[in-house]
Formats: sequence, structure tokens, C-alpha cells
Amino acid sequence: MKGIIFTSFIDFAEQQLGLEFVDEMLDTMPLSTGGAYTNVGTYPAQEMLDMVEYVLQRHDLDPAALQQAFGEHTFKVLTDRHGDLVESFKDSFDCIFHVDQTIHRNVLKLYPDAELPNMHAKLSDEGRRLTMEYRSERPLMHVAFGLINGCIKHFNDRVEVAMTDLSDGAGTHASFVLTREDTGPTSAAEPAA
Ligand code: HEM
Repeated sequence: MKGIIFTSFIDFAEQQLGLEFVDEMLDTMPLSTGGAYTNVGTYPAQEMLDMVEYVLQRHDLDPAALQQAFGEHTFKVLTDRHGDLVESFKDSFDCIFHVDQTIHRNVLKLYPDAELPNMHAKLSDEGRRLTMEYRSERPLMHVAFGLINGCIKHFNDRVEVAMTDLSDGAGTHASFVLTREDTGPTSAAEPAA
């Protein structure tokens, strides 16, 4: 797993749980680099999952909500660093529809050793609904949910997301149904102040 996901998690944990907690976590856990991750390095994905577990053992947090919030934070981190990979998309549907075939394909050009999920998307209901199936060797469906929410916020869209776990709790296979909410007149149509 690429270091950018690790540095994003550490940054997220610092914001949510404090620097002291994170320092203690990095000191206590048997991490490959002693917790000194670089964005472009590659580290065992299990270490990331172990850090999530460490947090959950010490804080009374809902595991799904924690991973979702982390995913949302990570969308910001990814687009801050690689804004060029999303700037051509007009909205969240456009972006999510192209994650697998365009964004992650370009990620693989930048980081040939990236470990990416498979995310097959299709549009229906005259473009009002997007269905995406997530499959991965890593159990990160809740993080995927957060990335999707981060993307919707990034584009200021109004979209409802429903996730169905297809992996019996394993977190490796899920389907997401995204439905555009009726927004009425768009802000672009409103008179300028
Ligand atoms: C809604 C949009 C997106 C979704 C749902 C999504 C989903 C995911 C998921 C779930 C992972 C974790 C790996 C796994 O589950 O197997 C991942 C990894 C990653 N994604 Fe995306 N992604 C999105 C957008 C982006 C964007 C915009 C970028 C870059 C600009 C990006 C770059 C990456 C990178 C660098 C990794 C790490 C690969 C590794 O650990 O080796 N993703 N993505």
C-alpha cells in the first residue's frame, strides 16, 4: 500500500485523536519503518489495518464510521496532491464513473506498485443513478464509502449513497448505489448578488 494512504491516516488520527495519542501509537506498534512513512514509499497494507485496530481498541468509536471519516479525509489528501487527476471531471458522478478506468489507471503510471481495487461502475435512470461494485484484496469498503463521500463534497453535489456489503462482513466486496437528489434550480442559474 502506498505511503500516501499511511501519511493520510496519521494526519487524520492526529486531527481526530491528538498528537500525543499518535506518537504513542507509532512508538508502541511494531511498524516496518518505526512509523516514518513517505508518500511515495510502499508498505504492508496490514500495517494500516493494524493501526485502525489500535485506535479502535483504545477509543470507543464505530469501526465503520472511523474508516469512512478516514476515507473522506483521504479524498482531500489525494486531490491536494494530484489535483490534475480530477480537474477534468464535471461532477462527482463523472469522477466516480472514471475512477477505475482513468484515475486509478493514471495512478498506476505514477506508482507502478500501487495496489488498487477493482471498481466497476455503470449509469442508469438517465444518468440519475450510478452503481459501483467495489472488489479488493484489502478489506477497505468503508474507506471506499468515505472516498465516495469526499468526492461528492469536493464537487458540492447532492447525492445519496447506499452501500451493500457483498462480502459477509469481510469488507472486500460491496456495491454502492448513488442517486442524484433533486436540486431544483442550480446555483449557476441564480442571479448574481
Ligand atoms: C471517489 C473516488 C475514489 C474512490 C472510490 C477510490 C477508491 C480507492 C480505494 C478503496 C483504495 C484503497 C485500496 C483498496 O481498496 O484496495 C484506493 C487507493 C488509492 N487511490 Fe483511489 N479512489 C478514488 C479516487 C482517487 C483519486 C482522485 C486518486 C488520486 C488523485 C486516487 C489515488 C489512489 C491511490 C494513490 C491509492 C493507493 C494505492 C496503494 O495503496 O497502493 N484515488 N482508492
